[in-house]
Amino acid sequence: MASITQKRFSLHRRVEQQDHRNQALKSQLLGLQSLASMGTVSYMIAHEINNLLTPLKSYASFALSDLDDRTLSEKALQKVVKNCDRTSKIMESMLALANGQTRQENDVRLLGLIEEVFTCLCRDFAKDGITVDVRVADDLTIRGVPVQIQQVLMNLILNARDAMLPGGGVLIVEAADKADSVEITVADTGGGIEPGNLENIFDMFFTTKANKRSTAENPGAGLGLAFCKMIIDNHEGSISVESEPGNGSKFRIVLPKPQSDNN
Ligand SMILES: Nc1ncnc2c1ncn2[C@@H]1O[C@H](COP(=O)(O)OP(=O)(O)O)[C@@H](O)[C@H]1O
Ligand SMILES: [Mg+2]
Repeated sequence: MASITQKRFSLHRRVEQQDHRNQALKSQLLGLQSLASMGTVSYMIAHEINNLLTPLKSYASFALSDLDDRTLSEKALQKVVKNCDRTSKIMESMLALANGQTRQENDVRLLGLIEEVFTCLCRDFAKDGITVDVRVADDLTIRGVPVQIQQVLMNLILNARDAMLPGGGVLIVEAADKADSVEITVADTGGGIEPGNLENIFDMFFTTKANKRSTAENPGAGLGLAFCKMIIDNHEGSISVESEPGNGSKFRIVLPKPQSDNN
């Protein structure tokens, strides 16, 4: 019969072997996690590039539509150049976000950011039967990374538009200056969100636009809101939604004001 010392020795060796196996599994898991997050980042970047390519193509087509009209072509091409610049800034900022690099925050005029988003979308909302109502004070400023806040607004506005197609409706972008925060809301009069889906909409890859019955122009990737949440969390703010089926949706972003502004 093996002595107690021998038994302890063999037990000790088994524990050590198990420890080695655990370490090996841990490092494998870390490798897989970074692969998975690379996959996610690539998906997100592809999603945002797709959002930006559609208006770029429209501007380029405008430029080609009547080459004899030099003024029109020039104007459209200037928009193409401006949007390309914006696209590269957005890509840089997304890569920085994915790498966890520090953010370049600025005080920016919110109305200016919103107007640029609508220009960048190059959409005549009226053609889709959508009335746009922007109720934002001209001098209201927010603290944030401008291109990232614009990405959030662009995703919310595109979702609102999808929700109101094909019937049309009203899109209201509003902002309120509170004591220690700025509250931005994007509301639509579209189909609303089923109560069962409300808790999932900010999850990565959750979409109801994957099927043919969806009214959206493109099948959804389910990344827009996950991306919005990531950006707003990074700004130490919050994003939430109120919605009822048939009664539209209202997305609310709360961005804290920097401490020094509250004194
Ligand atoms: N304004 C809205 N009205 C109705 N449903 C919405 C609205 N915004 C988001 N949703 C719901 O949330 C889901 C996830 O949105 P998102 O992350 O942007 O992905 P995608 O637009 O690719 O589906 C949508 O598929 C839709 O079901
Ligand atoms: Mg979307």
